[in-house]
Amino acid sequence: MGEMAQKISNLNEKELMEQLQIAFAEEWLAYYQYWLGAQVAVGPLRDSIEEEFMEHAGQELKHAKWLSDRIIQLGGTPILDPKDWESTAQCRYAAPEKPYVMNLLEQNLVAERCAIARYQKICDMTFGKDYETFRISEKILKEELEHEQEVGDFMDDIREGVKYGDKKQD
Ligand SMILES: [Fe+2]
Ligand SMILES: [Fe+2]
Repeated sequence: MGEMAQKISNLNEKELMEQLQIAFAEEWLAYYQYWLGAQVAVGPLRDSIEEEFMEHAGQELKHAKWLSDRIIQLGGTPILDPKDWESTAQCRYAAPEKPYVMNLLEQNLVAERCAIARYQKICDMTFGKDYETFRISEKILKEELEHEQEVGDFMDDIREGVKYGDKKQD
């Protein structure tokens, strides 16, 4: 990019590439967290939650693909070794050590909120400067917001179910 073009674009390309790599690593971890959660989940609404987790896992993997395509277009190389996912990601991977659905939902809620902040940040960095990266991050942000809502709804439903169950016993 020419010196003047860079000056007026006010976009730090190195910083943007770092954010895209972080996001890429986080998507793989999010994919695995949902996928594994779907396998081990126990508790109320297990079948619906398993289905939802598998759907989210598929979307996180699709996000990784979009990011990988964009990283390559911008002249970068997506992280080559899975062992670098954890050290690059800033949203932490939470192992589903307690497979009760509420614990899994809580872990995924934390991850989704971190993802929302990531894409909000990339949108802020690229808005009006790098339309293609902005378009991709905006599309991902929309889906992460939906994920947060869906995970939160399951938690509300389970809490309501517990309340309803208590009332029935009165
Ligand atoms: Fe994602
Ligand atoms: Fe998500």
